[in-house]
Amino acid sequence: MSAEEKLNNHNLDDGAGERAQVLELPMPDDFHVHLRQGPMLQAYVRRLAATCGRALVMPNTEPPIASADAIVQYRCKIEEAAEIGFVPLMTFKLLPGMAARTVDECACAGALAGKYYPCGATTNAADGPRRPEDVAAALSAMEAAGLVLSVHAERPGAPAFQREKLFLPTIDCILDTWPRLRVVIEHVSSRETIDYINSRPDRLAGTITAHHLLFTIDDMLGEGLDPSLFCKPLIKFEEDRGALRQAVFSCSPRFFFGSDSAPHPVQAKLKRNAPGGIYASPTEIPALAGLFEQHGALDALPAFLAKNGAAFYGLPVTGQTLRLTRKRWLVPEEVDGCIPLCAGKELDWSLETDGS
Ligand code: DOR
Ligand code: ZN
Repeated sequence: MSAEEKLNNHNLDDGAGERAQVLELPMPDDFHVHLRQGPMLQAYVRRLAATCGRALVMPNTEPPIASADAIVQYRCKIEEAAEIGFVPLMTFKLLPGMAARTVDECACAGALAGKYYPCGATTNAADGPRRPEDVAAALSAMEAAGLVLSVHAERPGAPAFQREKLFLPTIDCILDTWPRLRVVIEHVSSRETIDYINSRPDRLAGTITAHHLLFTIDDMLGEGLDPSLFCKPLIKFEEDRGALRQAVFSCSPRFFFGSDSAPHPVQAKLKRNAPGGIYASPTEIPALAGLFEQHGALDALPAFLAKNGAAFYGLPVTGQTLRLTRKRWLVPEEVDGCIPLCAGKELDWSLETDGS
């Protein structure tokens, strides 16, 4: 940990046994978020911008973000919606047969990453590639342009708890076929994938969500069914959560924060055939502060939230800060028309602006 990070961590015990009341963090980056299109965009953007200075915005909107024009327009809408100071980092969706020229244009429009959604793997992914060959020209162009390949790494149709593990051979194939391509496995959820990333070259990294660090499948269906915790990939077992926690508490540079905050209106989440997705933006940072503190790992939080991801994407650290205060609060059942992460639970840390 750097001296600067130490300095910013006012939460260390002050020696007299009293816990400090303020936690000052470098402003977090969220390297995986869904902001959608349409009337709720503004609310989702502002909620995110309250705790994150930059975010990598996923392209699985309707219609998808899959061209330079779409990137420019979507970025404009997000910037208009945001309070000042928030920086959207743009992605495009890889579609079968996508031309190298389209990728080059997306790169010129400022995209940092192309997103690979296996066909049918998740929300709005019916148009995705079935195999890497379907997007071979685009992947070669991304490798040449230095863009990051961001992957929803699940094998559609496989048994639900094994989908992530069974996609790893496809990652092997991508790493071998495009030897300079930088790749991120998004929302890592299993011990196997943590071990896999650690065993491969450092041009492969993983994002980790707050919900996969906080919960296990028992929280979703061990007692009363909690459909708000249904997401893809599924939240898994104690040993998986343990491996994820170890990866982030140990400050490994191979893992960084990507919330996968994915808002769905509460009515949709409570229906049969409900979509996967957890609205994490309203609570993810206070919840993570509580988790890291409980495990004596607050020193590791700045690297996870604000350093490792920026380093992987080659972005400067911003120098902005975020202050949390030690104030217990009850997370409401509904925020922005969605069920927020940790709804109905008490959190120990609050945003300074809470109460709005
Ligand atoms: O749970 C999820 N929801 N996982 C994804 O990969 C997509 C996301 C969404 O867009 O709703
Ligand atoms: Zn996602």
